[in-house]
Order: sequence, then C-alpha cells, then structure tokens
Amino acid sequence: MTGETGERETGPATARAGVPATARVDGADRAQGPDGGAIRVDRLTIPVPSEEIGIHRVATFVHILKHVVAPDRRTLVDLGAGHCKFSQWAAKLGFEVTAVDGRTVRLPEDLGAIRFVLSDVRDYDPRGHGVVALLGLLYHLEIADQESLLRRCCYGAPVIVETQVHVPELVTGEAKDWHALVTRDGYEGVDFPEGDNPMASIGNRTSFWHTEASMIRLFERTGYGAVTVIDPVFVSGYGARRFYVARP
Ligand SMILES: C[S@@+](CC[C@H](N)C(=O)[O-])C[C@H]1O[C@@H](n2cnc3c(N)ncnc32)[C@H](O)[C@@H]1O
Repeated sequence: MTGETGERETGPATARAGVPATARVDGADRAQGPDGGAIRVDRLTIPVPSEEIGIHRVATFVHILKHVVAPDRRTLVDLGAGHCKFSQWAAKLGFEVTAVDGRTVRLPEDLGAIRFVLSDVRDYDPRGHGVVALLGLLYHLEIADQESLLRRCCYGAPVIVETQVHVPELVTGEAKDWHALVTRDGYEGVDFPEGDNPMASIGNRTSFWHTEASMIRLFERTGYGAVTVIDPVFVSGYGARRFYVARP
C-alpha cells in the first residue's frame, strides 16, 4: 500500500485541494485542554493514495497500525466492527483480533482467525487488548454512552477513533433541521437522527456528532492525556470525518 509515510506536525492542519484547513484546536500542541485539564494535542498528516473514502479509511488505519501506535501486545479489539474489514486488515498485519458488534448481519462468511463477540458496546468491557479501534461507531451513540465507552477504553492502550465530526462548511447535501448547532453538557455539535439500517445505532434514536473542539473536550473529560489529530479531514455523504489516536 502506498502513502504510508506520515509527518508529525506542530503547525496548523494542511488543507487538501478544495477542502479548508479546518479543525484547528486552538493551538496544535498545548498543555491545557478546553476545560483547563492537561491534554496534549498534536497533529499528524497521513498521506493517502486516493480520496475515495473507503481507500482513505483503510490506508489511514493501516498506516496508524504500522507507524503510529507501538502496542505492548499485538492484540486489537475492533468495536462496532460491522463488516469486519478493518479487523481483517489488522489480522493481516499480525494482530490477534477480537471483533465486537451488536449485529451479525454484515459479518463475512469467513472470519479467519478473528474472534467475534456479539455484544452491545455499551455493556462491553474492552480492557486487556494492545490496541482499541472505534471506527465508525462513536457518532452512533448519545453523549453519555460516548463518555462511558471512552472511559472504559482508557486503560492504557492507544485508542484509534474514526468518526463524523460537525464542520459546518463541510456538511454535504441539502440543509437539514438536524444541522442546527446545539450545546449540551458543555459539548457542542448536532443531534443526528439515527436511521433503521445495519450500520445505525442500536436502541438510541438520535446520536451526537461533535464539533472538532468538542471532540477534544470529550477525550479530555474521559481521562485521556494525549490525542493526535490525524489530517487530512475527509468527507462522507454527510460531512466531515476524522481519525484520532488517543492515549491515557
Ligand atoms: C457505520 S458501521 C461501522 C462499521 C465499521 N467499523 C466501519 O468503520 O466501517 C457501525 C457499526 O456499529 C454497530 N453498532 C452501532 N451501535 C452499536 C452498539 N450499541 N453496540 C454494538 N454495535 C453497535 C452497528 O451494528 C454497525 O455494525
């Protein structure tokens, strides 16, 4: 796979052609978080071979596993694994993988060596793995469940998060009522109306999509001491998405 050299930056986000350099988090490397806590924020640009979202996500995940995290153990838990494509990439890289999801409908026929656990992530104990992956999951949860899950994941391992973030200028499609910015519990973002499909939430009718600053606050409040914001931001059919690597 190409595009696997990353450059750690202490400056502002690099804009992709046609995409604004959003996601400034009030200083790229600082000792104090939005709530006055001590969270260190730095940035890393990971070049990708294509802007096609599927390739972008896999290339970034593979790069992070190869070059950014240095786990004690080559074990990984993939929460909200869905189709298990990311689990399969981790397994190819030599990780012993546990895939967790509340549904089995998109499971591949052949899981290979991947261990699958059918569970609601809101009840699951993720401790004991070398790496935690939360890909395409956090933004399907309500704030309290996001906090609870991130706290349970904050046990020592690096946590790779990939999520929708609310960046008004990158929202795609026509204007919707749910694009209205709300503040709740000190967070800022939008209330997304969850659908009824195999990729959606389980049990909650709305979920919370944070602004970029609010995402940092979420990591800070749930006990993380450092977060690497991965550039570039990229865009789905709904709006902006981003990878983060958070460490206790
Ligand atoms: C958008 S898909 C992401 C799949 C894959 N991780 C990816 O990034 O492409 C979200 C997945 O999270 C699962 N999910 C949503 N809420 C869940 C919950 N509370 N407990 C367990 N799985 C959940 C869904 O079943 C779905 O497979």
